[in-house]
Amino acid sequence: MSSKDVVVYSVENRIAWVKFNRPDKRNAQSPTLNRRMLEVLEELEFRDDVGVLVLTGEGTSWCAGMDLQEYFRDTAAKGLGGTRKAQAEAYAWWRKLRWYQKPTIAMVNGWCFGGAYGPLNACDLAIAADEATFGLSEINWGILPGGGATKVATNAMAWRDAMYHTITGEPISGSKAAQWKLVNESVPLAKLKDRVIELAGVLLKKNPVTIKAAKDAVRRVTEMTYENAEDYLIRAQEAADSFDAEGRKEGLKQFLDDKAYKPGLGTYDISKQKKK
Ligand code: ACO
Repeated sequence: MSSKDVVVYSVENRIAWVKFNRPDKRNAQSPTLNRRMLEVLEELEFRDDVGVLVLTGEGTSWCAGMDLQEYFRDTAAKGLGGTRKAQAEAYAWWRKLRWYQKPTIAMVNGWCFGGAYGPLNACDLAIAADEATFGLSEINWGILPGGGATKVATNAMAWRDAMYHTITGEPISGSKAAQWKLVNESVPLAKLKDRVIELAGVLLKKNPVTIKAAKDAVRRVTEMTYENAEDYLIRAQEAADSFDAEGRKEGLKQFLDDKAYKPGLGTYDISKQKKK
């Protein structure tokens, strides 16, 4: 297997399927995988034939966290510089994914531990198999959940659940992860891909400029005061208009003039929109 194969991807019907591909190591994030993942995300980000990106894992695992040998032990042997370099490479692709141009879905098919919470949080939506297993296992081998993982838990879950999850290290099922809001929902593994395709289909119908502005807004306003958020959202809408002046006009026309759809119940037909 070449070093490039640790991440594989294909594009079908405007969905980019990106896979962690180290199944024999349960898709743990090695430095090689982290470097390659950033390249793959960059290759796909502005392709016109990609409307949604799905991140999933080959085999029985979504991602078993950081690679304890290659990410921790081997890099620590190189001193602080080795550790910092490995961290920077991991955080670089998580950040790229957090602010990705296209909407993203984590399709969690199996194990999801520790350092996997970085990319989990980076994806806009997350659908898990009921049978998947989640855990902040760091505490079990003697470190605290770093790499943003504690922040991910407290952002997503109620405080009590986040505390329990962090300091017990007990694994939870995909269904429990959905109940605790670590993912949007869980479905039986046999139905996981169909559900993700259905959800991607919803996103593909939206105006792409608007969806990028809206997903960034959800992440940004979380840490703002109401006043700052109000101001930011005015500017964000105006910036989106400057990229796509026709979008909202067409949306209004199809409702008010053509009576072709109801915004409360569905999306306007973006294929009828004048190109810039
Ligand atoms: N880092 C390095 N190697 C790993 C990792 C990992 N995170 N996870 C699995 N592997 C390797 C195993 O060492 C084993 O390698 P080998 O075949 O060369 O011996 C191989 O993957 C298969 O692992 P098994 O344990 O045999 O697989 P199983 O399906 O029985 O269990 C499980 C899977 C539960 C994921 C188990 O491997 C495990 O607990 N892994 C560690 C999970 C973890 O705690 N990750 C770190 C989180 S903390 C952080 O990321 C900061």
